[in-house]
Amino acid sequence: MCTQCKNPRHKGQHTAPEQKPKVHIVRRGKSYTAGDGDIFRAQAGSTVVAQKGSTGVYLDGSTGVAYEGSTFTAEAGSVVHAKYGSIGRARKGSTVIANYGSVLQNDGGAKIIMRADEEEHKVPGAMVSSYSALDAMERSLVDHAWEISKQAYCPYSKFPVGAAILAENAAGERRIFVGCNIENASYGGTVCAERTAAFEAVKNGFRKFLTIAVVCAKSPGGSPCGFCRQVLREFGLNATVLNIFNTESVVVKWTVDQLLPDSFGPDSL
Ligand code: THU
Repeated sequence: MCTQCKNPRHKGQHTAPEQKPKVHIVRRGKSYTAGDGDIFRAQAGSTVVAQKGSTGVYLDGSTGVAYEGSTFTAEAGSVVHAKYGSIGRARKGSTVIANYGSVLQNDGGAKIIMRADEEEHKVPGAMVSSYSALDAMERSLVDHAWEISKQAYCPYSKFPVGAAILAENAAGERRIFVGCNIENASYGGTVCAERTAAFEAVKNGFRKFLTIAVVCAKSPGGSPCGFCRQVLREFGLNATVLNIFNTESVVVKWTVDQLLPDSFGPDSL
């Protein structure tokens, strides 16, 4: 008997009935709040607030705010404020105000205004940038971090992290060292990506950290843990930390000193 329609004579496969998702067309002069499961099309002169679980398109002349858990496309002529945790695609000619932790794909020619919102950004003084705005060395570090994150051993958390550190030795030579998180069945034995990279640098004689890139596909804007901050502080109090979600997203830049203010270090002893 068919398990789907319970018809004893039916043995074949069912093809799912064509289900057209309902699209909320938001017309001129109207405002609409899209909730979980909603699909919207914001037309010229309308405003849409996109909440968690909604997805939609902002057309020319529309405006809106996209919150955490929403996905959107900003078409040319639209203005969208992308909040922490929103995922968007910015088409040529659109304007997107990108808060810390928003993830944007810029099709090229979109105007992206980076904004570190005080209330959403916990670290004062952090800068927000984008991958394409980084310099060549910074981009190389990010690329290295992505590459090594493939080696992460994380069967328990399934949370791969990659780190790449630009470090200098006593002779003034500079080199990139990489690391990934390595977990353990005895969970406390786990070592983070930042620390595996840091130890790699130090054991090769590169004790001055200049820039550190950390990537994690699952954690937009996630920052180094407390243990790692302390270890990074030992070798690079003024080093820059770059955190990135994917190659098109907002990058957050901190210094180690900002991440661990008033820290305990070699001078404290
Ligand atoms: N992890 C890192 O590698 N770096 C961090 O800064 C935070 C956490 C790893 C440790 C563990 O394997 C997994 O992410 C989940 O905590």
